[in-house]
Order: sequence, then C-alpha cells, then structure tokens
Amino acid sequence: MRSKEELENEIMEAGKDILSSEWFLKGFEQPHHFGSNVSDHELHVAFVSLKIAGLFRNADRRALIRACLCHDMGLIGNRKAVYTTGRMCITQHPLDSAKRAEEILGALTDIERDIIVNHMFPLVLNPPKTGEGALICVADKICAIFDPIMIGRRSARFRERMNISVRA
Ligand SMILES: [Fe+2]
Ligand SMILES: [Fe+2]
Repeated sequence: MRSKEELENEIMEAGKDILSSEWFLKGFEQPHHFGSNVSDHELHVAFVSLKIAGLFRNADRRALIRACLCHDMGLIGNRKAVYTTGRMCITQHPLDSAKRAEEILGALTDIERDIIVNHMFPLVLNPPKTGEGALICVADKICAIFDPIMIGRRSARFRERMNISVRA
C-alpha cells in the first residue's frame, strides 16, 4: 500500500502540466459541492481513485491521474451561467471538460477520454468502457460526499506541497 506522500508525488509527477495550467488555477475559484471548489475536488478524486486503483494490478494510473485532474473543468465559468438546468449541467460538463483537457494536453488517450466523458454515470445513461472509467464513477461519488470534510485538511496540505498558491 502506497503512503500518502507517495500518492501525492505520483500526482505531482503525472499531472505536472495540468497542475500549472490556467484552467486548473481557475478551478479553485469555481464553487463545487458543498464548501468545495472544482480543483480541490479534482485533487481529491485523483487521490481516492489512486487508492482504489491500488487494488487492481493493470490500472493505467497515469491516465487516471491526468483525467481526474481535468474531469470537472467544464464547470468553470459555465455552471449556472451557461448550464441553465441541472440536466444540462450533468450532461454537458463532461464534454466541455474533455475539450479543456485537450487544450492543456494537446490530445487525450482513449482511456483519458473515457474517464472524463463518462464520469457522470449512472446519472447519464452512457456507461464507461474502461475499468479506469468505472473507477472514477465510484471515486467521484465518494468525494462529492466527503469534499466538505477534506477541503480543510488534505487539500490545503496538497496545495502547499505542490506549491500552488490560490488567488484570493
Ligand atoms: Fe462531474
Ligand atoms: Fe467530480
């Protein structure tokens, strides 16, 4: 079982380009779930996904990290402003997240795309096609419940280690 530090190091290494991107920094300003924001939630989901992935020998951990860090970026600036109904928000933000991930990464692997585009299953009917895609569906729901508790603990520590300063 990898330690907390090892998992954080893994996220920092595989997600370097995303963590320093403008979209990711903007995500700290976009409220998400109760008392959380998009980027802290994405870090939380990456962490929990890696923990679950530890149970499976063949999980693509790099794809999982990169996709988890981008999976809700579509919400930034669009939530309520552009997505005027709850249904629209649920169906549209994964597609917009994939577009923003492409802006940052250039191209997505098939697994990265599956993780991002289908992460809202079963709230949307299209199920993920990969194990990694199924895994984020579970991790995302767990984090939606525990984000408010983790934000003051893990996220602050995470940001400090990653040298991310959040704009006031
Ligand atoms: Fe989402
Ligand atoms: Fe999410």
